[in-house]
Amino acid sequence: MPRLVVFSNRVPLGDKPSGGLVVALNDTMASQGGLWIGTETVKERSGNGPDALVNHPGATFERLAMGLTPEEQDGYYLGYSNSVLWPLFHGRADLLSVSVGQFTTYTSVNRRLAELSAPHLRPDDTIWIHDYHLIPLAHELRKLGVRNPIGFFLHIPFPVANGIRALSDNAEFLDWFSAYDLVGLQTQRDVANFIGAFRTLGRAELLSDGRLRFNNDFIQVASFPIGIDATGFRTAAEQAPELPEITTSAQKVMIGVDRLDYSKGLPHRLRGFQAFLRERHAEADRIAFLQIAPPTREDVQAYKDIRRDLEQLSGEVNGEFGDIGYMPVQYIHRSIPRARLAGLFRRADIALVTPLNDGMNLVAKEYVAAQDEADPGVLILSRFAGAAEQLAEGALLINPYDAASIADGITRAVTMPLDERRTRHAAMWSEIARHDNDWWTATFLQSLARAAASRRTSESF
Ligand code: ADP
Ligand code: G6P
Repeated sequence: MPRLVVFSNRVPLGDKPSGGLVVALNDTMASQGGLWIGTETVKERSGNGPDALVNHPGATFERLAMGLTPEEQDGYYLGYSNSVLWPLFHGRADLLSVSVGQFTTYTSVNRRLAELSAPHLRPDDTIWIHDYHLIPLAHELRKLGVRNPIGFFLHIPFPVANGIRALSDNAEFLDWFSAYDLVGLQTQRDVANFIGAFRTLGRAELLSDGRLRFNNDFIQVASFPIGIDATGFRTAAEQAPELPEITTSAQKVMIGVDRLDYSKGLPHRLRGFQAFLRERHAEADRIAFLQIAPPTREDVQAYKDIRRDLEQLSGEVNGEFGDIGYMPVQYIHRSIPRARLAGLFRRADIALVTPLNDGMNLVAKEYVAAQDEADPGVLILSRFAGAAEQLAEGALLINPYDAASIADGITRAVTMPLDERRTRHAAMWSEIARHDNDWWTATFLQSLARAAASRRTSESF
């Protein structure tokens, strides 16, 4: 079997992972083995020439990381990746923050990563590049003569053509995708956006076999909804350590777990809960809402703003509805161990997942996996999460922009009879167990092997 070489900006280097990409790729690498190459921040690089990649032993697979200087971290990670591409891809051009030099640093970091990695590659490796930080990487590797199969997977939504138009300094954006044998996206919606953008902006032609003819190249694109280790997570939830009492006088627990990102709709969620509390009948169960939101990308202004908004709003809700022994909102601003998280999901009667736009949302799938099937909880899910394409049968789909829609979802969840909860849970469990992380990895890699073989055949004629 060819060795799998995975590239992503973030590699798990001992810190607690909270982010879908690292969680999912950890599962993939744990079962496949191989080499995982990424970046890490360093104070300064030694010497004048490009440094070597640093080896991080201690995992069941090999890990190599390229050191980023603070300037590179600023321009490439906080800058172009997270202040330009992230907001644009999530449909938030209003949050774009463009500064001089970001784009150059983004491309030069990708070029250096290609140069440092190429000597580590073997001719029969399969290369799989992940996410928006590294879109130009295949293009850079091809320039260095790398002929291996190279696949790309985007973990976040693909934007509509107008989103890409806002990348004013980036004429090469569409071209970068031509270097891949296969482009994988999360959902059908993303594939439609991708094809639409290439037709509108690149005059690409959609062929009857599903490929795009773009300039003199062909691009193969398809959706591969990312999965979780469903049975592993269920077992972790069953065996989770004892949990402390969540609250003294609440009968039901509702949970939210997200990086503190503006794409997650956290203020909308609190406004929805507030609307529910305002209109609920006196006899309704008391609900404690536990929101775990670890910090993320805190040096970007938009993330500072969302933190402030959330703190204000949870204070407001607690002031309005709190009582002695009852705190409606408990907000925890840090990461917690996965085993404990799994236990909390199992303990919670409801999960409230309200992104305004999300590639997939693994939290929704983890919540389903963690449930006791004899007495499962209810998933309230935004129709704008990628996961909604797969979980529509079992989740209560809501519109996060409409507080009344969230409030209505909570009311339905609180009052849902046991047999309906079981039926809904069974539909979702069967979907996430069938399309789990192993399925995702295997399906993508098989499609990549086919796509690369057909490219080689067409090149030899
Ligand atoms: P994203 O990739 O945008 O962060 P996902 O929902 O797809 O969103 O993935 C988030 C992952 O990070 C999940 O596996 C989730 O369990 C994990 N996670 C999120 N918040 C925490 C936290 N506070 N502690 C531990 N793990 C977390
Ligand atoms: C999302 C992105 C990942 C990223 C993760 C955490 O899942 O798709 O690429 O790793 O968020 O964000 P961070 O900036 O901490 O890596």
